[in-house]
Amino acid sequence: MSEKIESYAKSWNVPSHKTMIITGGNSGVGFELIRHVLRRDYRIIMAVRSLERGNKAREKLLEEFPSAQIEVWHLDLASLDGIHSFCEKVIRDGVDFDVFYCNAGVYRIPYQEGPYGVEMTVWVNFVANYVLYEKLREYAGSLPHQVRWIQTSSVVARFGKFKESDFFPGERYNKIKAYENSKAAVNGLFLRMVEDCRNSNILPLTVHPGTTHTPLIEKAYPKKGINRAAQIFVRSIFHSPEKASLSTLYVLREEIQQPCFCGPRGLFHMSGYPKIYKLYKGNLKGMDKIFAKLKEILAETEYKDKGGC
Ligand SMILES: NC(=O)c1ccc[n+]([C@@H]2O[C@H](COP(=O)([O-])OP(=O)(O)OC[C@H]3O[C@@H](n4cnc5c(N)ncnc54)[C@H](OP(=O)(O)O)[C@@H]3O)[C@@H](O)[C@H]2O)c1
Repeated sequence: MSEKIESYAKSWNVPSHKTMIITGGNSGVGFELIRHVLRRDYRIIMAVRSLERGNKAREKLLEEFPSAQIEVWHLDLASLDGIHSFCEKVIRDGVDFDVFYCNAGVYRIPYQEGPYGVEMTVWVNFVANYVLYEKLREYAGSLPHQVRWIQTSSVVARFGKFKESDFFPGERYNKIKAYENSKAAVNGLFLRMVEDCRNSNILPLTVHPGTTHTPLIEKAYPKKGINRAAQIFVRSIFHSPEKASLSTLYVLREEIQQPCFCGPRGLFHMSGYPKIYKLYKGNLKGMDKIFAKLKEILAETEYKDKGGC
C-alpha cells in the first residue's frame, strides 16, 4: 500500500476488531478496503461468486496479514437461491457482523437475463442488494450493536433514472444506460433504507469510489484495437483502487453516526481523497413505484415461499 495513502488514513478514528461481510472483495476497490481494515484487525467474510478467485485473494491477504481472520463464502448474486442460502447461513451461524458492505457490481456487460428475466446489470447492482437487505434486515436489527450497511453507487448515477421498463429492456438494452440506471436505483434504495432504519441500529451509508482502474474497467474494455487506447487513457485519468477504497474507510469512522453519501472530492467527484457530499436526488422521484413493482416481481414465485417480503 502506498505510504502516502496509508498515512493519510492513519489518523482516522476507525474502530478496530469489527466483523465485516463484503460482497465481491476478491479484487479492485473491495480488495483494497479489506487491506485497510485488516490493519485495524477486522474479521472478514468475503462473499464471492468464484471460490477459486476468493481463495486466491485470501492467500494474498494472508501473505501480508498472516494472523488475519478471513473466511471465503460462496455468493453468486446472479442466483436468487444463492442469495437465500447465503442469508440463511449468516443467520444460522449467528454471524455477529458490524458492517455489511455491498461492493460487488458489474459494468457494461453483454445483455443477459437474471432471475425472473430481469436484466443482469440491474439484477446484480440493484435487485440483489435489495434482496440481501430484505432478507437480513430483521436479523441485523436484532444484533446488540450498530450495523453499518454500505451500498456502492457511482458518480454516473446522476445521469440515470430508473424506470419500470428497465427491469426488462429486451432489445432496447444499452450497456452504459443500464449501469447508470442501476446505480441511480441504488441511491433510491439508500433513501428508502434511511426511512426504514430511522429508529433502528442499522446505519445506511452510500459510497462512490471514484473512477478507478480496476478489473471492472478491464472487463468492460478488453485490450483490443481502440480499447487498448481507451485503457491507456483510463489509466492516466482514473485513480488507484487503494485511494478509491478510502471513501468506504471514511464512512467507517466513529464520527459518522448519520446516513450519508461519500465520494472523492476532486473535479466532478471523479477522483481524490474522500468527503461527504449531498446526494443528488433530482432523478430519484418515482422510486416508490419501482419498489412496488419489484415486490410484485419477487412475490410472483418462490421468493414469497422463502420468507421474503
Ligand atoms: N471502477 C470504477 O471506476 C467504479 C466507479 C464507480 C463505482 N464502482 C463500483 O465499485 C464496485 C467495485 O467494483 P471494482 O471497480 O472494484 O471492480 P471489480 O474489481 O471488478 O469488483 C467487482 C466485484 O464484484 C464481483 N461480482 C460481480 N458479479 C458478481 C456476482 N454475480 N456475484 C457476486 N459477486 C459478483 C466481482 O467478482 P469476480 O471477480 O468474480 O468478477 C468482483 O469481486 C462496483 O459496485 C462498481 O460498480 C466502480
